[in-house]
Amino acid sequence: MHADTQRSVVVLGSTGSIGTQALDVIAANPGGFRVAALAAGGGRVGLLARQAAEFRAEAVAVADPATVPALREALAEHGADPTVLAGPDGVAEVAAWQADVVLNGITGALGLTSTLVALEAGRTLALANKESLIIGGPLVKRLAKPGQILPVDSEHSAVQQCLWASGPDGHDPDAVRRLVITASGGPFRGRKRAEMAEVTPEMALAHPTWSMGPVITVNSATLVNKGLEVIEAHLLFDIGFDRITVVVHPQSIIHSMVEYIDGSTIAQASPPDMRLPIALALGHPGRLAGASRPVDWTTAHTWTFEPLDDEAFPAVALARHVGAEGGTAPAVYNAANEAGVDAFLRGELPFPAIVDTVAKVVAEHQVTPADTVEEVLAADAWARARAAELAELAAGQSR
Ligand SMILES: NC(=O)c1ccc[n+]([C@@H]2O[C@H](COP(=O)([O-])OP(=O)(O)OC[C@H]3O[C@@H](n4cnc5c(N)ncnc54)[C@H](OP(=O)(O)O)[C@@H]3O)[C@@H](O)[C@H]2O)c1
Repeated sequence: MHADTQRSVVVLGSTGSIGTQALDVIAANPGGFRVAALAAGGGRVGLLARQAAEFRAEAVAVADPATVPALREALAEHGADPTVLAGPDGVAEVAAWQADVVLNGITGALGLTSTLVALEAGRTLALANKESLIIGGPLVKRLAKPGQILPVDSEHSAVQQCLWASGPDGHDPDAVRRLVITASGGPFRGRKRAEMAEVTPEMALAHPTWSMGPVITVNSATLVNKGLEVIEAHLLFDIGFDRITVVVHPQSIIHSMVEYIDGSTIAQASPPDMRLPIALALGHPGRLAGASRPVDWTTAHTWTFEPLDDEAFPAVALARHVGAEGGTAPAVYNAANEAGVDAFLRGELPFPAIVDTVAKVVAEHQVTPADTVEEVLAADAWARARAAELAELAAGQSR
């Protein structure tokens, strides 16, 4: 990419794991990209101010208005003077900021508004915040034009690359037999359910192959993240749940595969590094040289694959169920899980009870259409409150 094609990028969630790695990619390609605006929650204003100064952002937003004075002070220390915006409306204003690409690296259901606003403004959306697509499925799909969403999740980036590679005439949907989504299996791979009763937050936060934010790390340990990714694949690639297979691949080198009707399988391989899918989404349709290191073919190594143990990790089967139900069901699955993860990280809910709680809340929920933001947010709020209630009950019983 050359300076005359320099692409402007908005980074939402710039202080997080995805956000900081996106800024690494941008810093490594100064001729290719410039940062238009940044947004974060407000938990790390010092870092946000440093980023704004280094990348000369035109605007910076924090979701928590109480952090604005500290942000202004930190910006002044760095000699930066961008437009400062605050609150959910401020974050939404940044999501619609004039730019070529908006990278949504906000964590959780909170990312929904930004996804919708960026799509409505006509921006290319580099989507790390899978939750917004999953909970707002019909809404997001109605707004998104073909090719407007570029997946940042490594598995979906891999599927996308396999589809691009499918043949000289381009992608033929009828030639695809199934998608094979790989899972590292997380830190508790191979354990039975009873062997996970004593898992602590510290143990769940130690992922064997990826370094990520806390929610997705716990979700990778429960396999809820894989469940969310199955729904994400269904929505992104318009493929039935019966044609999406999950396979455990502990080395996290093959990021996913596409099996074709002629028996051929195309796989995408690279060492685990989110900068590759981020670079692909920001630089599309080009590839950025040196975005990540390649597989080292000069050393011996082994890649292994094994089926998922659905009994020990019921989160994926439950996700298939809510995904097939549609409407508000995926939003309920996600919100109950976010509340369950919160309670687990506070030490109030045992590890296996996270998914048990999600299953209970999903079973109690009366599914309704999810055609408006209000409908999605109402289901989200109900599920969050119900999961918190169940977690409190469980904590009371164990005291
Ligand atoms: N990390 C990975 O490798 C990875 C891989 C695939 C997909 N993803 C997905 O990417 C998303 C981000 O994950 P992460 O691991 O980067 O999370 P993270 O490290 O926890 O970072 C979350 C970011 O969101 C910001 N934020 C929180 N609430 C916000 C709000 N209301 N408005 C605007 N920004 C807000 C945080 O700001 P503060 O710093 O101020 O709190 C932080 O910058 C998730 O959807 C995750 O599933 C992540």
